[in-house]
Amino acid sequence: MVKIINRINATKIYRKTFFTAISLQWHRSHTDAFARNSMIDIENLTYRVGARLLFEDATLHLPSGGKIGLIGPNGCGKTTLFRIIFGEEKIDGGEIFIKPGAKLVRVKQEIDDFELPLIEFIVRADAEFVQLRRIIDGAENASAEDVSHACDRYAMIDGYSAEARAANILIGLGFGNVDMGKKLREFSGGWQVRASLAATLFAPSDCLLLDEPTNHLDLETAMWLENFLRKTDKMLLMISHEKQFLNKICNYIVSISDRHLLLFRGNYDTHVATRDRQETALVKNIENLQKKREHMQSFVDRFGAKATKAKQAQSRIKAIEKMEIPKMPSVPSGMKISFSQPRPRVDKKLITLENVTAGYGEKIVLKSVNLCVTFGEKIALLGANGNGKSTLAKVLSGRLAPISGKVTAAKNLKISYFSQQQADELNMESTPTETIGKIARSFSETQVRAHLARFGITQARSGTQTKNLSGGEKARVLLAINSIFEPHAMIFDEPTNHLDIDAREALVAAINAYEGAVVLITHDFFALSKTCDKFFIVSGGKCTPFDGTLEDYRALLLSGGAEQTSAAAGAKGAKAPSAAKNENKSRTRQLLALEKMIAEMEKEKANLEKKMSNSCDADACKLYADICKKLTQLENEWLSANG
Ligand SMILES: Nc1ncnc2c1ncn2[C@@H]1O[C@H](COP(=O)(O)OP(=O)(O)OP(=O)(O)O)[C@@H](O)[C@H]1O
Ligand SMILES: [Mg+2]
Repeated sequence: MVKIINRINATKIYRKTFFTAISLQWHRSHTDAFARNSMIDIENLTYRVGARLLFEDATLHLPSGGKIGLIGPNGCGKTTLFRIIFGEEKIDGGEIFIKPGAKLVRVKQEIDDFELPLIEFIVRADAEFVQLRRIIDGAENASAEDVSHACDRYAMIDGYSAEARAANILIGLGFGNVDMGKKLREFSGGWQVRASLAATLFAPSDCLLLDEPTNHLDLETAMWLENFLRKTDKMLLMISHEKQFLNKICNYIVSISDRHLLLFRGNYDTHVATRDRQETALVKNIENLQKKREHMQSFVDRFGAKATKAKQAQSRIKAIEKMEIPKMPSVPSGMKISFSQPRPRVDKKLITLENVTAGYGEKIVLKSVNLCVTFGEKIALLGANGNGKSTLAKVLSGRLAPISGKVTAAKNLKISYFSQQQADELNMESTPTETIGKIARSFSETQVRAHLARFGITQARSGTQTKNLSGGEKARVLLAINSIFEPHAMIFDEPTNHLDIDAREALVAAINAYEGAVVLITHDFFALSKTCDKFFIVSGGKCTPFDGTLEDYRALLLSGGAEQTSAAAGAKGAKAPSAAKNENKSRTRQLLALEKMIAEMEKEKANLEKKMSNSCDADACKLYADICKKLTQLENEWLSANG
C-alpha cells in the first residue's frame, strides 16, 4: 500500500493555480522523518516491470537541502524512480513519504500553449506571481484591500524582477535577447526542451528533480547550468551520467545497485572511493567467514565419526548452519564497446571541404569552410548550439549537399553518422535483434546477438520492443547500427546522451581503439578531453581551427569570450586567459581586479532592482539581464582564476 496523501494547501490563496512545472504538495504522518529532516523517504520499495524486479525492499532517506546525484547503469530504473516519487507508478510493495507542504518540481514533458511568448511561458511557472499580477492589473475584480495585499506580497516575492530573473535563466541556457518575445512554436524541439528546463529552474520549489538535464545542452550552456545548480539553495535530486557535473554540484550520491538504493555522502569521486573501501572490507569479511566455515567443516569431516569428538562436531555443524555469509558485491559489467575497424584501405585524405557554403534553402549557416579529415584523426567540433556544428557534421557525412564549394571524398569511402535524432527513426515496435537483423541481412541470428552484446545489449534486452527500452539502451542500439559496415570515418553528434558512466568510458576507449577518423560533437568534457587532439570552433558562420588545449577553451568560455572564439581561435589560444598558468602574483592581482568589478556590478544590479520595483520597462529588463549575465561571467572568471 502506498501511503501518499495529496494535500493541496487551500489556505495559501495565491498558490492554487497554474503550475508550469509539475508540482506536488504531499502530506504524510511520519514522525521519524522529521527527526531525520528528510524530504523524501522511501521505505522497503519493491517494484517490478514485467518479470524483472527493478527495486527489492529498497529503503532510502533523502536529506532536505541535499544536492543529490542519482546514478546507476542504463535501464536500472532511475527514471522509473522519479515516476514512483510522483505517484505515477503502482508499486508492488513499500511506502513513499514526502515532507508535508514541500513542493517538488520537474521538467514538464509537454508544453500546453505553444502560442505563449517565451518569457511569458517562463514566468507562468510561478503561479503565485501570475495570480498576483492578475489582481494588480485588475483582471480579477478584486477589492482595494485585496489589491493592496497583493501589491505587498508581489514586492515580497520579488515580482518586479520576475521577468528579468526569467530572462537571466534563458540567456544562461543559450537564448538570445531577440528570442524573449518569440512564440514557443517558433523554436525547434530541442530549444523547447531548454525552455521547459528554464521554466523548471524558475519555478518556486523546495526540491528540483532533474533527469539528465544536460542532454539537450551544449558544452557552453552545460557549464552555465553547472554553476546555477551549484549556487541554488533548493534541494536537488538529479539523474546524471556526467562525472564532471556530479563532482562539481553534488554533496550526496544515490546509487542504484542490485535493486537497492544506496546513499553516499560526498560527490561522485568521493562515492567511488567510499564504495571501493566498503566493497574491499565486505569482500575481506566474506573471505574470513568462508575460511572459518571451511575450517569448521574440515573438523567435522575429520572427526565427525569419532565418538569422542561427536559433541564438538555437532556444535560445529550447528554453527555452520547458523552462519550467514553476505552475498559478494556484484562485479561491474566491465562493459566494452568495440567498433569494427575500417576495411578495405582507402586514401589517407578521407574528406576534403573547399570553400564550402552550407545551409538550408535560403538560410546560410556556414560560409567558406575549408577542412580536411585524414585517416586516424580524432577531431572535435566546438561551439554553441545553433552555430552549425550539426550542419557541418551532415555535410562531412554526405547527408547534406553543400550550397556551393567542393566536397571531395576518397574512393570507396564508408562513413557512419550518429545523431540522437536517429533514435526517433528507429521502429518502436521492433526489437533490437529485428532492427539489426534487417540492416545486416548477411548476419545469422547468433551474429546479431553477438553484435548487440558488444554494445551492452544483453540477450534479455535484445528481445524487448524498442518503445520499452530506456534512453541509454536506445543509444546503445544506435551505436551498434553505426558500427556494422566497418566505416573509415565515424561522425558522432552528441553520442554520450543517455549513456551511463561505464558506457561513456567504454565509448571513449572504443573511439581511441578505432583506427579510422572520428569527428566528435559532444558537451561531455570528459569524453572530449580523453579522445580528441584536434579542435575546430564553429561560430559566426565560420569553422576555424583552435590551436589551444581544451582547458584553454574552457577558460575562454568562462571568461565570456565564447562569442569572439572564432577571432581568438587562430591565435594558438593566445587570447585565452590561461590564468591557471600565471604566476601567483599576477593571479592575486587578477583576483583582486575581478572582485572589484564584481562588487561594482552588484551595486549596479541592486540600484537597478530598486528602480525596477517602481517601474519596469523592456529596456530595464534587458539591461538587468545583461548585468546578470556579465556578473555570472565575472564570477566564473574568478572561480577559474582561483583554480
Ligand atoms: N513496458 C515495459 N516492458 C518491458 N520493459 C520495460 C517496460 N518499461 C520499461 N522497461 C524497462 O525498465 C527498465 C527501467 O527503465 P528506466 O527508464 O527507469 O531506466 P533508467 O535507469 O532511467 O535508464 P537510462 O539511464 O537509460 O535512462 C529498462 O530496462 C526498460 O527497458
Ligand atoms: Mg532514464
